[in-house]
Amino acid sequence: AASLPASVEALSLQSTAQKSQFAGCFPTLNPIDIYRQHIAEELSKSSGIDAQKIYPRIAWTSTLDKGDLSLPVASLQIKQNPVELAKDLVSKFPASDLIHPPTQLGPHIQFFCKPQPLTSNVLGRILKEKAAYGTNGNQGQKDPSDPSKGQKKIIIEFSSPNIAKPFHAGHLRSTIIGGFLANIYTVMGWNVTKMNYLGDWGKQYGLLANGFKEFGSEEALIKDPINHLFDVYVKINRNVSEQDGPIKELKEQIKAKNEKNEDVAELEAQLAKLVDVSEDERARRYFKSMEDGDPEALALWRKFRDLSIEKYKQTYARLNIDFDVYSGESQIKSESMTEAYKLMEKAGVSEKSEGAVIVDFTKHGAKKLGKAIIVRKDGTPLYLTRDIGAITERDNEYHFDKMIYVVAAQQDLHLAQLFKVTELMGHKDLASRCQHINFGMVRGMSTRKGTVKFLDDILHDVGDKMHEVMKKNEVKYSQVEDPVKTADILGITSVMVQDMTGKRINGYDFNLDAMTSFEGDTGPYLQYAHARLCSMTRKSELDVDELVNANFDLLTEQHAVDLVRLLAQWPDVLLQTAKTLEPITVLSYLFRMTHMLSSSYDVLKVIGSEPDVKQARMALYASARQVLNNGMRVLGLSPVQRL
Ligand code: ARG
Repeated sequence: AASLPASVEALSLQSTAQKSQFAGCFPTLNPIDIYRQHIAEELSKSSGIDAQKIYPRIAWTSTLDKGDLSLPVASLQIKQNPVELAKDLVSKFPASDLIHPPTQLGPHIQFFCKPQPLTSNVLGRILKEKAAYGTNGNQGQKDPSDPSKGQKKIIIEFSSPNIAKPFHAGHLRSTIIGGFLANIYTVMGWNVTKMNYLGDWGKQYGLLANGFKEFGSEEALIKDPINHLFDVYVKINRNVSEQDGPIKELKEQIKAKNEKNEDVAELEAQLAKLVDVSEDERARRYFKSMEDGDPEALALWRKFRDLSIEKYKQTYARLNIDFDVYSGESQIKSESMTEAYKLMEKAGVSEKSEGAVIVDFTKHGAKKLGKAIIVRKDGTPLYLTRDIGAITERDNEYHFDKMIYVVAAQQDLHLAQLFKVTELMGHKDLASRCQHINFGMVRGMSTRKGTVKFLDDILHDVGDKMHEVMKKNEVKYSQVEDPVKTADILGITSVMVQDMTGKRINGYDFNLDAMTSFEGDTGPYLQYAHARLCSMTRKSELDVDELVNANFDLLTEQHAVDLVRLLAQWPDVLLQTAKTLEPITVLSYLFRMTHMLSSSYDVLKVIGSEPDVKQARMALYASARQVLNNGMRVLGLSPVQRL
């Protein structure tokens, strides 16, 4: 845990033994569970309906005007008209210290918390628990009633760029979403392993190595591996496309002659010669030498890989991400693949087809998955084959309870085939523990200079843009201590928030102007809201550690009450997020809160209020800042103090 990035380290974790009669009810972790429990027990007492049946059906609400909790009576499946039953339950509900008399709305019952007990409970907790507020370490327990059974283990595989190719928008999204998922599982008490499965093996390495011999420089490689390798990549691919023309032309001539039944022997010989010296063929041969274990070829490959990883690490750190494991296609043992071939053959899953080995999914109850090649004619494995080897290796090494692959929706078929083959090979249980988390495409991701070589280029560009935006406000700009650093963080926040706006499956247009604006639900706006609360705390000159002793009863205004009700939802929002696995679940909650905050500032003034009112309001704002901070960190953002 020592090497956790600062941002995630602050996501401390709380757990507790289960004390309630209801499954998943943790009153000491989640203030709302106190209310759920109370409601379930009271309804049960007056109606005779089993409280266990009621408890799980008491739902949180998406807008506060629908109450703090609600019960859709029909879900109780009692043989009585739901509207009548709702009326009946409401009329029998006893007076309560915690909640107002419930209201019946058709077949629904709405419950509103009484402000005072809620406020002191929620604000008291937040100010004491700080970064841990909302976390729930019990979720990741193998057995919540017996902590000695230990935590559940999850592998999250994400980012996974290809070393010999540019880092593209798909890798960016995978990085952002994967980092977020790792945080969510962490605050839910799982033991998380973050894995990067590099594209670090294959014919493209042969191409890159040959390119390096022709265009590369040792010095440039050490200095800036990613950009240098990218230059080499561009130059060698130029060679490839120059050769493509003549080869294609010859092939067409041969085809034409064949059709006329003319002799093609000479052209065939010419073609063979061209192909023999082509970059493509040289790359294939080079890669073959790597596969055969040629030490020199492997040394160069290892150097590319090691230097690239060093550089990746620096960039990931800017996004508050560090990987536990840099795996990759190169790491998959051939024995694991051989083992898989055997299992497939034994299970009658694979078959020979024109010299290759294939799996025809249509014959195994999965029509949509088509056919996939497992072993090429020349005996070499493919992308899918390595993944099949990897999935069993990981199972043996990590004994995980769950594994998530964060990969673009373009690879839906690939992952569906992987999971199906795994199942057909006889590892049904393993397949059922794996999940593909997919996402849509980013359109038009390019820097203002044109090409994207690596993530750094984009982050740098957005940082520059943010710096320009900040300079427009001269007064404020002059107060920021390290404007370049702040601009950099704001830039990264812009990119990430834009990415997390909307459901994962939706694609979006990369829009530099929109994402860096302070208006609308953007990253800069979120940072601004946080910085404003920090500034308010500084200006109040109150002792933050004393706020927990404030007189919360003074927070009687509707604005204050509603803000508290929203803050009370945070633990439930996190739980809900653990189900949806969508960053937008957290993000839209945070925007609801920042909107509510900005309409409260004029009503609930801190400066100029009576000392005890001032302290109570500051306690409220400090609590909001804490929850905003917790939420931003879960998303992988670094909240700023000033801007
Ligand atoms: N390197 C791959 C690509 O860029 C993504 C790897 C996804 N993960 C996997 N286990 N196949 O397309």
